[in-house]
Amino acid sequence: MPSRITDASVEAMLTREKALFLQRNPKSRALSEETAQNWLRGVPMHWMVDWGTPFPLFIAKAKGVDLTDADGNPYVDFCLGDTGAMFGHSPKALAATLREASEDGFTTMLPSPDAAVVGRLLAERFGLPYWQVTATASDANRSVLRWCRAITGRKKILVFNGCYHGAVDETFVGLDNGKQRPDPALIGEPRDLNELTKVVEFNDIPALEAALAPGDVACVLAEPVMTNIGMVLPDEGYHDALRRITRATQTLLVIDETHCMSSGPGGYSRANGLDPDAIVLGKPIAGGVPAAVYGFSDKAAARIRDYLSGRAPGHSGIGTTLAGSKLQLALMRTMLETYFTEEAFAPLIGLARRLEKGIADVIIKYGAPWHVVRVGARVEFMCSPDRPRNGGEAGRVIHRPIDMAVHHYLLNRGVVITPFHNMMLICPATTEAHVEALIQGLDHCLAELV
Ligand SMILES: Cc1ncc(COP(=O)(O)O)c(C=O)c1O
Repeated sequence: MPSRITDASVEAMLTREKALFLQRNPKSRALSEETAQNWLRGVPMHWMVDWGTPFPLFIAKAKGVDLTDADGNPYVDFCLGDTGAMFGHSPKALAATLREASEDGFTTMLPSPDAAVVGRLLAERFGLPYWQVTATASDANRSVLRWCRAITGRKKILVFNGCYHGAVDETFVGLDNGKQRPDPALIGEPRDLNELTKVVEFNDIPALEAALAPGDVACVLAEPVMTNIGMVLPDEGYHDALRRITRATQTLLVIDETHCMSSGPGGYSRANGLDPDAIVLGKPIAGGVPAAVYGFSDKAAARIRDYLSGRAPGHSGIGTTLAGSKLQLALMRTMLETYFTEEAFAPLIGLARRLEKGIADVIIKYGAPWHVVRVGARVEFMCSPDRPRNGGEAGRVIHRPIDMAVHHYLLNRGVVITPFHNMMLICPATTEAHVEALIQGLDHCLAELV
């Protein structure tokens, strides 16, 4: 019989932990008062205040898995920049490349010799032959959607309810009681996104079939595991069905690996034998320095070449000045050579298994109505006894007050997990002791909550 976590116990913990946060962080508080004078919402990126703490923590140093805030408080970081620092902060090999590259120029509007190696390594690791660089995964997704629309001549895309693919306008459409509607929180979007997007629930094969049947969708854009609304795993056989249905309707399949790259050196697609038409890789591909890439299959690339041969001259609307730069290529080369390898991933996945087991044991110990899931080096606990099968179900089990209470509790004890749900990532600098500290923190937190 699961134990109950009452609203009263959650509120009591959150109130106490917020007070403790205020006590522990006078310098961050003073900084937040200063930055409120010159930054919108007081921070250089407006969502930084959405962590929900009384004011943001100001981070003075990040190295490996260690963060130090402006007050000198140390933290073990399991958020790792929400995957941007998947291989730790300032990983050694990358820092060395950065030092060397700093003398050779950053951006020239021309390829550097590293392009040859990086292209080959991307193809070897991720299995698709033709690649392009962007500055962010959002840019990469936007670019891929453009190419897919261009070569199919179709206007619409399809995404899954509850997805997140970055700042990509057309993806912000969800299901509300079975009816699709643009996210009401979207700022300044003048278009009716329903005209550009179809949405279905993940793992719902009949809905996917029905949505693609008219043959008007350029591509399905999907994370192989949904990772931005808690974590939603594909049902057994779902990816086969997704590929079969997209092929049957001549819809391109784009797999966004930005988070699921934590599965292994060739991402989730390689580890699980997926066969997409395009792949997007963001955040950690240059170790957290702005860079992302997208790759196309032979067939898709041939269609692009055909399309380009008949295209009118002028702006393509795809690509930005700093994308494909010398600096990005130097950093990506180091990341691919040093960190996107089986040897580098094996210990991460081993420790992530230990974390998953430790959290599962704590959940059982307290009879908490929670569960834990893992994809490669990425672990997530969710506040429901059963795994959600789609974004709609996952959205309903996210319990913001519990998340807030747990996050504050852990932060005040020197452990950082991802802010908007409960994700924890293992990097090469994470040790067993760090993992045990997190498990123990959750143990003590649950002891109070249930
Ligand atoms: C799956 C996925 N794709 C794309 C993005 C966008 O990444 P960025 O914010 O670096 O553009 C994110 C960001 O969280 C993501 O989770």
